[in-house]
Amino acid sequence: MSFAALWESLLPIGRDGSSGGYRRFSWTPEDAACRAWFTRAAAERDLRVLTDRNGNLWAWWDPPGDAVPQAGAKAVVTGSHLDSVPDGGAFDGPLGVVSAFAAVDVLRERGHAPVRPLGIAAFSEEEGARFGVACLGSRLLSGAIDPGTARALPDAAGVTLAEAMAAAGHDPEGIGPDGDLLAAVGAYVELHVEQGRALANLDAAIGIGEQIWPHGRWRLDFTGRPDHAGTATLADRRDPMLPFAAAVLAARQAAAAHGALATVGRVIAEPGAVNAVSARVSAWLDARGPDELVLRAVVDQVLTAAREAAASHHVELEAGPESVTPAVCFDPGLRERLASSLAARGIQAPVLPTGAGHDAGVLAARIPTAMLFVRNPTGVSHSPAEHAEPADCASGVQALAAVLEDLAWG
Ligand code: GLV
Ligand code: MN
Ligand code: MN
Repeated sequence: MSFAALWESLLPIGRDGSSGGYRRFSWTPEDAACRAWFTRAAAERDLRVLTDRNGNLWAWWDPPGDAVPQAGAKAVVTGSHLDSVPDGGAFDGPLGVVSAFAAVDVLRERGHAPVRPLGIAAFSEEEGARFGVACLGSRLLSGAIDPGTARALPDAAGVTLAEAMAAAGHDPEGIGPDGDLLAAVGAYVELHVEQGRALANLDAAIGIGEQIWPHGRWRLDFTGRPDHAGTATLADRRDPMLPFAAAVLAARQAAAAHGALATVGRVIAEPGAVNAVSARVSAWLDARGPDELVLRAVVDQVLTAAREAAASHHVELEAGPESVTPAVCFDPGLRERLASSLAARGIQAPVLPTGAGHDAGVLAARIPTAMLFVRNPTGVSHSPAEHAEPADCASGVQALAAVLEDLAWG
C-alpha cells in the first residue's frame, strides 16, 4: 500500500531536530514544502491540482469525460490540513491528507472511476498557529471571517496575513467566500487522529465524529509599569504578571467548576528582563465546553477574575476573542451513511464527540460534513508524543476508502 511511502516522504518536512515536533506554519518555507509534497502526490496519481483563492489546496479525481455523470452530481471531498501547532505531532492533519491519497490508490486498484468528482483538500492555517485564527482557510472559504479582517491579522513578528501570502506568491486580494466552489461540494469527510483516549478505551481502531464542543481563543493584554526588581517597593508596583497569574488560576477553577476545559498555553512577558517588573503580559486563553452556555460561563468567570485582579494591582486589561467556533453537530444523514458503509464491511466504529476543532466543523455550517477518527493509544495530541499505530492507520485508509466508494460511486 502507498501509505507508508507517502507518510515517510512528508515526515521530514518542518520537523524540529531538538524537540522532534513539527513547525509547519502557513506561508513559510516549510508550508511551501508541504504544498510541493501535496502537488507531487497528486501529480503521481494524475489528479488535477488547484489552489483556491484562500490558499487551500485541492486535488481532483474527475469522472472520465466519456462517462455520464449523474445529473447535478456534486463532489465528495476528503482531506484535512498540513500545518501544525508549535512542536505539534506528525498525525494531526497530515494523517487525513496522506490517508486521502492512500484511499484514492485503494479505489484506483478496484479499477473504476468515480461517478462524482472526488476531491482531496488540504486547508490552510487550520491550527491558527501563525495568525491566531483557527481554521482560517475554511473560515475564509465559507464566509465565516471578513476578508479584510483576515488580511490584517498579524503574526508574532507583525507580518500580516496579506504580506505573508504575497511574499509566498499568493494574491491576498482574492481571499474571501467562494460560493461556487462550496456549491460544487456535496459532502466533506475528514479523517483525523483521535485527540483523546476514547477509542483506546473502547478497543476500537476507528470512530465516527458526532459533534464538536463550542470553543474559542481570547487574548488578554495586561499593561503595567516596568520598574526595577531590586528597588521598587511592593506597594509601588503595577506588575501585570500578578493579574495574569490570577487569570491562569481562574481558568483552571472555572473549567473544573463547569465540567469544561480552559488552557493558557501562550504568554509573552515584555520586555522580558529577569530583574525588572514587566511592562506588559499578553496571554491567550483557550476555552471549550459541552455547550455554549457553559463556555460563556467559563470565559465570563475568567475575564471577571482577570479584571478584578488587574484593578487591584493598578494594571490595565484589554481582553477580547480572537476566534470563536460554535457547537457543531455533524450532518446526521451523512453520519448514518458512514456508519452503514463501515458496518457493511464489518468495521465497528463508535460515535464520539470531541473538544478539538476541525475544518469539518467550520464547513458544517455550509455543507454536509462528517469525520472519521483513528485510535491514538495515549490520547496525547498537539505534542511530539502524538501517535497512531501503523495497523490503525491502515484501518483508517480502508475505512475512508469504503466511505468514499459509497459516496462517490453510489
Ligand atoms: C485544533 O486542533 C484545535 O482544536 O485547536
Ligand atoms: Mn490540531
Ligand atoms: Mn487537526
